[in-house]
Amino acid sequence: MSKGDYRLCPMMSPGRAAPSDELVPHSSLPYALCSWAAFNMGCLLVLALWLGLGCLLYFALGENEAALGVFAAGILTLALLLLSFVLVYLCAKNSFQIWALKHPWNPLSRLFIPCISVFEGLEACNPAYLVGLRELHGKNFCCAGQVVLSDFAQIASSLASGQQRQASLGAQPLIASHFLGGAAPGGSRNTFLLALSDDDAPEEDSQHHGPFRKCLVENFLGHGSLSRQTDSTAVALLDTLEQDYAEMGMGESAFFDAPRKGWRGFWIRYSHYVLLGMDPADEAAMDTLQPLFGTDMLPLLHYLMPFGYFTSDTSFKKVAALYESSPALKDFEERCPAWHMMTKKELSELMVAVMRIAAITGTCQLGSTVMGNMPFPAYGGHATREIDVRQIWDYKLDLDDPLAVRRYVLECARLYPPVSAASRVAREDFEAEMSGQLHRFPAGTKVLIGHGLGMVDPEVWGSSSFDFDAERPLLETHTLAFNAVGTEPSQQARRQCPGQELVLETLVIVLQRLGRLRRLRLHRK
Ligand code: HEM
Repeated sequence: MSKGDYRLCPMMSPGRAAPSDELVPHSSLPYALCSWAAFNMGCLLVLALWLGLGCLLYFALGENEAALGVFAAGILTLALLLLSFVLVYLCAKNSFQIWALKHPWNPLSRLFIPCISVFEGLEACNPAYLVGLRELHGKNFCCAGQVVLSDFAQIASSLASGQQRQASLGAQPLIASHFLGGAAPGGSRNTFLLALSDDDAPEEDSQHHGPFRKCLVENFLGHGSLSRQTDSTAVALLDTLEQDYAEMGMGESAFFDAPRKGWRGFWIRYSHYVLLGMDPADEAAMDTLQPLFGTDMLPLLHYLMPFGYFTSDTSFKKVAALYESSPALKDFEERCPAWHMMTKKELSELMVAVMRIAAITGTCQLGSTVMGNMPFPAYGGHATREIDVRQIWDYKLDLDDPLAVRRYVLECARLYPPVSAASRVAREDFEAEMSGQLHRFPAGTKVLIGHGLGMVDPEVWGSSSFDFDAERPLLETHTLAFNAVGTEPSQQARRQCPGQELVLETLVIVLQRLGRLRRLRLHRK
């Protein structure tokens, strides 16, 4: 079957357009329990009005006592709130969150949990932070407004069962509206896979995840991308990467940081060629991609709560337009029932989010780790950060054995997973033991699936769980790096990262080619 077979909707005759009422409008996100941002915005608005009223009275009535009183009361309330938040955050984060998540409708919970989610969500990006919390509080604890159940079996069971989702990127809350397709007549709908529930979840959005995922995989990761991955254009890109490596200091940070050359420049061109069929020599297209992919942090903020409200979406729209006209979507048929009536615009916008959040950031980071530019996290009490993987890459790894190189990549991803957590929403009330006490949390509570925690769990990986050992027998079958238990696709692993094999195969070739170059230089020295 060719890629072309995939692109044509299997259930529609060409040219037939679906009536607009077949399009499912964007439904409100499930479980209002978790969407607390509106409450916080409301509180801020009340405070702003309060202060505004004070100012107005002050200017209207002159130096009047009543005006000053209103103004001072506003300032005082704000200061008190800020002070109590700082105290809670610094001194009682875990215990406050246990209480607040058990009492989600209490105004204090409503007020503080979203702020804790934002601040602690940023800290939790570092896998060592969550491991530190587990050492402090035990297997179950709270972090970033979510309950963390870090037992390996719990994580595995979450990954293997249907999940209810909310707009979260692991521990970080996202702005749901920044994912809306916006193309469908009669209203836009949420197409962002990470925020959509599985097909057996009860709410409306649940019917979309499977078909939308299928549409994305069939159009961007089908046979066309497989053949492009090894054709002459892909090989030429790998040649350029090798040349850049030699010219840019054999692994100096410039090779990883440069936006248009080196590792990042290669991956931007290579992934857009393989997945979307875009011409890597088209400099005008590469110019359009640069603002979005040339760096990680700033463009990513567009999706993160609340930072995204202060960013512009211009470059996202330009890239989505570029994707719409990409060779991979040339013959795309819109409104196919099997893909839940997806339009080209919706698919392109979904792909922008996937490329920005998963494909570029994750792979650039993992590449930087396996090539020794980015050290492992500083896990407290362990010397993991001191491990120099270049010593293994240069002297121990059998570069002629692709399976050995793959295991090396998986071991790096175990110790430093680019995506260290995902987030689901509990469908039912549940109990968890925390700090020696049993706590009951209501349905709707967010639960963090800690891939990073599971991958250094000594009960599974043994006493050497924080050491580097690419010969671990469980690596392929128990890695959680790609959102499933192990790398083998299965019926249960419905949310397994579909980019897994592209990432692993590319990194194996890159490590082999650059590794041989390094050994040649080492020999000469
Ligand atoms: C080292 C690189 C990568 C890592 C570690 C990684 C890991 C992950 C993880 C852990 C998830 C689940 C996130 C969640 O549910 O909250 C995920 C989802 C996803 N990834 Fe990747 N990914 C990588 C690269 C890629 C690439 C290159 C693609 C290219 C298409 C890709 C496409 C996706 C998609 C479409 C999803 C959503 C799957 C779904 O919800 O059904 N990823 N990835």
